Amino acid sequence: MTITTTGLGSPIEAYCAQRIFQPGPEVYIVGNPYHRPVSAAGVGALDFSSPATEAEFLSQRQLVAGRILCNAYESDMILLPEAGLATAKGDFDLFYDDEVRRLRDTIRPGLERFAYSFLDTSVTVPPVRTIEELQAYFLGEVGGVGAPADHTGNNPEVDTARPLSGTMRAIAECKHAEEAAGLHLIQLALDALTEASAMARNLGGSYGVVQSELFKIFNDEFGYGLYPAKHSTIFKGMLASVGLRTDLHAYWNFYLNSSLIGVNYFNWLTEDHRGMFRYMAAVTYLEWLFAQGFADTGAMLRAVYGDRVDTKYCDEHAHIDIHHGRMTYENLLLGLARAHGELVIPELVRGIEDTKLLLRLGDEDFRAQIRWADTLDEHTRLGASLVTSTLDDADAATLRPGDPFTTRVYDADRVIDVTDGELDVYAWATERPHRIGKGDALLVPRGRLHGLTAVSASASVAVRTLEGNPR
Ligand SMILES: [Fe+2]
Ligand SMILES: [Fe+2]
Repeated sequence: MTITTTGLGSPIEAYCAQRIFQPGPEVYIVGNPYHRPVSAAGVGALDFSSPATEAEFLSQRQLVAGRILCNAYESDMILLPEAGLATAKGDFDLFYDDEVRRLRDTIRPGLERFAYSFLDTSVTVPPVRTIEELQAYFLGEVGGVGAPADHTGNNPEVDTARPLSGTMRAIAECKHAEEAAGLHLIQLALDALTEASAMARNLGGSYGVVQSELFKIFNDEFGYGLYPAKHSTIFKGMLASVGLRTDLHAYWNFYLNSSLIGVNYFNWLTEDHRGMFRYMAAVTYLEWLFAQGFADTGAMLRAVYGDRVDTKYCDEHAHIDIHHGRMTYENLLLGLARAHGELVIPELVRGIEDTKLLLRLGDEDFRAQIRWADTLDEHTRLGASLVTSTLDDADAATLRPGDPFTTRVYDADRVIDVTDGELDVYAWATERPHRIGKGDALLVPRGRLHGLTAVSASASVAVRTLEGNPR
């Protein structure tokens, strides 16, 4: 097989130049788990040497790094197309190829520094040193986010009838509530279709009783060896019930920055085993929150889709994660603190604080995306009113039907000014994309994921940067 490296300046460019990481014409990538487009533009112009700050969380560089890292981590998992390998044998060989893995291993540590260093500066680790302080800290944290705990550390019951609030309510209140709920399921799918594969990296080795306790949880995630009970299988059932595709990464183009960074975080901590303490604490925190979180998700899905949605995945987690919350707390978090003492407690706390920040940034990113995607008509009117005052250097482009499709974000508010023809705008996965034509101008706020396809034989746009903050 020929690997393209000639003339490319950096290992990152050489990695991204592989056929499987280049965009094709399709918006949804069906039946090929190896095809994961990184960027339409060359990545050579992107500088990954200085870490992204928290303020750059929604940047195009983070999106590109997130896609590359996801590809890197998943190339040590076994992925096969549902329809059989014959459909993608060449891409299978390339995804796991020697040279591609060599490039992967060359670029990964630098990209991890780029992507995650902001956590070192943005996260403040409270001074928790002893096991007693760790218990008080943890139960305070999970109690503070609405996941009740009694004084013995038991996570008692979930409330399956509480009214929708927060992001779940925001989804249900969208004009296009099914698209918004679909986008939420798609973000979950990034992890759920390979659920517990990061955890699987922590099953090997020799690290005492904690290892065996983790295996019990892994066993539940994998349905005790019964394929119909495996969490990824019941997740597929939920997707299929609302008409979403179940192929791994069919919606690759619609993963938000925050989803990639969040899922990659767990792959990073399990790939680099120095991260195992942070991982175990992060899993403890999440398992504790999941019980109520998935009860709320199930309620939102039923509100949006009615009876046709199969919420078994949510119901299962609302039940089993009560146990996983308790098991991880007692046996992983406190288990590691008992075995290794004050040396590791700050790292455990760090895993929880990292997760809190990633959850908050993820929630903000998702909320902003559905707010924008739900109001593209208003943002088209707004764009038209701004275009006269935004005359500085426009990036002009012409698109044709069947051109390579990819999604991206802008690092500043921009206006897409249609100068000729007609285009469809994808701001989420939908069969009804937002159509704009000559004379329209769409405001795309910084950090909002979008992709364009030409509807007319040729369509031209001028993408203009706005000065300051226009809104
Ligand atoms: Fe699960
Ligand atoms: Fe769980």
